Amino acid sequence: MMKHDISTNSPILQDQYGRIKRKLRISVTDRCNFKCTYCMPEHPEWMKKQDLLSFEALLIFCRYMVQQGIENIRITGGEPLMRQGVVHFIRDLQSLRAIGLKRISMTTNGHYLAKYAEQLKHAGLDDLNISLDSLDADQFKKLTKKDLAPVLKGIEAAQKVSLPFKINCVLMKDQNDDQIVPMVKWAKQQQIPLRFIEFMPLDGDQHWTDQAVVSEAEILAQLKAHYQIQVLQQQHEPARQYQLDGQYCIGIISTITHSFCGDCDRIRLTAQGELYNCLFAQQGLNIKPYLHAVVKQKAECGQFEFQQLEQHIKPYIWHKAKGYHAIQHQQARKISMHMLGG
Ligand code: GTP
Ligand code: 5AD
Ligand code: SF4
Repeated sequence: MMKHDISTNSPILQDQYGRIKRKLRISVTDRCNFKCTYCMPEHPEWMKKQDLLSFEALLIFCRYMVQQGIENIRITGGEPLMRQGVVHFIRDLQSLRAIGLKRISMTTNGHYLAKYAEQLKHAGLDDLNISLDSLDADQFKKLTKKDLAPVLKGIEAAQKVSLPFKINCVLMKDQNDDQIVPMVKWAKQQQIPLRFIEFMPLDGDQHWTDQAVVSEAEILAQLKAHYQIQVLQQQHEPARQYQLDGQYCIGIISTITHSFCGDCDRIRLTAQGELYNCLFAQQGLNIKPYLHAVVKQKAECGQFEFQQLEQHIKPYIWHKAKGYHAIQHQQARKISMHMLGG
């Protein structure tokens, strides 16, 4: 463990293991029109609309976080395109580029993308990650309870407006592991970046077992029958990259069999204002009251006063646990992926 005082004045967000935070993930809603079994509970209890953080408060929070070294903001959900005003919020985030924000991204299920791709591009979104777990229409419906066609149209719309994107494919044993080769063929043919993701124990109804995980090794074993595979140096991101036939790369995010926690530079905020220092953290930090105090102060005297917010956020981030393997066996918690946004 690193020795370091929890200085609340230094413009940096660092944890006790020396990991500096550069990426902030903001869930703007827990609602989703899909019901992916690896994420949503069968009977979700949605957050009340009045409990969601306002975009005004979110923008102020983002300003503070960028001042503290955050370079990338990813908008997530639920399904982020289900929250009214999200395009406007992305437009407002552009003002933070002047103080250090480098990238604004979104993770979406793609269903509403045909409608929003152009607006997102104009609002200044840099890129998207689109979930697509099967190219088989029946299987897709079984997995998500929605149709595949709108998602494929959404992908076309992103291509049309030149909005860069990656495809995320979560694999589950005997549910969609027959899609590994078809997905790669489809993506390779169009040179679309594709990442396979190991199923993590964050599903709404806590049905996860390690038997259901399709491991990185199993994915590679299937692909070896079709392609020459070469592993590439892992960059500062969750996916390990593999080159296929020297021409095309796929990524694999393997939290279960090869966690990347040692390099983790992320923090996340839920739609009702709980900060989580790790995807698997037992306890979030409710920052809503501190944020509301900043909003009020700004309205009264025109200045941002971040001291109270800072006094709570910095120690919370500092105490981030070492990673997935250190906390995986703790007791089950109420919050699942649809609230945390991945
Ligand atoms: P970029 O690397 O910026 O493209 O984004 P990303 O891959 O982090 O974002 P995305 O929302 O597409 O997430 C892809 C998968 O990675 C999801 O299954 C996430 O839950 C997982 N993931 C993202 N961040 C973390 C993290 O900090 N820890 C772990 N274990 N998984 C993460
Ligand atoms: N395990 C792994 N990935 C998941 N996602 C959602 N739930 C899980 C899970 N239990 C992925 C989605 C989306 C991203 C935000 O997280 O597919 O692409
Ligand atoms: Fe919705 Fe994404 Fe969760 Fe699927 S993974 S239910 S698309 S939030």
